[in-house]
Order: sequence, then C-alpha cells, then structure tokens
Amino acid sequence: MNKTVICPGSFDPVTLGHLDIITRASKLFDRVLVAVLVNSSKTPTFSTAERIELLRDAVSGLDNVEIVSFEGLLAEYCKNCGVDTIVKGLRAVSDFEYEFQMALANKKLNPDLETMFLTADADSTFLSSSMVREIGSMGGDISNFVPACVHDRIIAKLRK
Ligand code: PNS
Repeated sequence: MNKTVICPGSFDPVTLGHLDIITRASKLFDRVLVAVLVNSSKTPTFSTAERIELLRDAVSGLDNVEIVSFEGLLAEYCKNCGVDTIVKGLRAVSDFEYEFQMALANKKLNPDLETMFLTADADSTFLSSSMVREIGSMGGDISNFVPACVHDRIIAKLRK
C-alpha cells in the first residue's frame, strides 16, 4: 500500500521537536505532507512564506516529505487531498486533552479520517514554537531547539 499522511501545524517557527516527528513519520509512511496552517486566530510571527521556507530547508534531506499549506478546516483539506491519516506529536499529558478534542472533532467532520500520535522524543517534551520565540527574542540561545540550517534566519527575525 502506498500511504500518504499529513503532519499539520502552525510551525511558527519549525522546532527540532517538529523535525523529529516529521522524520519518524517519513520512515513509517511512503509520503508525508507537512501542512502549514495559513489562517488562524493567532497572528503568526513568521509569515506563511517564511514558515514554509524554513520547513523546506529543515526537511531537505527527507525525499518523501513535501511542504504544503492549507486554509480552513484540516478535515476538509485531508478529504480534498485524498489523505485519511493525520500524524501528530504528543509531548506531555498537557497536550492530550486538546489533541484528543481535535482528533474527535476531525473524525466527526470526516469519518474516514484517523489521527495517529507519535510520542515526542524525550529531549523535545518541553519544546514549543512559543518558547523558541520567547527565548530567541530575549537574546537566549535557541541552538538546541531549532534545526541548525535555519537557526540564523530564525534568530534574525526574532531579534528584529
Ligand atoms: O501547531 P499547532 O498550532 O498545534 O497546530 C494546530 C492545527 C493547525 C493542527 C489546528 O489548529 C488545525 O487543524 N487548524 C485548522 C482548522 C481546523 O480544522 N479546526 C478544527 C480542528 S478541531
């Protein structure tokens, strides 16, 4: 079976935690679409184009990974792409309730859609894009938190 899955998110910006989940999904499935949410209630720090470009560079070594963007409902987007599986990372118990709600809502909207969770790598359980933005903008060292190839661009944007 040729299996495509979607890894959705805001990726504002991509972290090593995201990259770990994407890399592991790319080993488990034939094709991984990393789907960047364009419109959300929050205004992202990084534009859609910047988030996509950072992700493209971060996954450049993974041949079966593509970066796409979507607006509106994820369940609809999956249906339109013919994808029936969402893969997400679970960092801690605190993620569970929100992720569980989203998985159930997505299933109601699109009953063919399954959500699978990969447990975050132990080094990434505390890591989030918002933490990267806060530490980076305050002059802290984020080199252990973001892919090396995009580190300087993230820092440049956060310290503007
Ligand atoms: O990286 P994030 O911010 O945790 O990603 C959340 C994301 C983008 C997966 C989620 O907000 C989403 O799917 N948004 C699209 C709108 C939607 O489908 N909402 C209903 C899901 S309950």
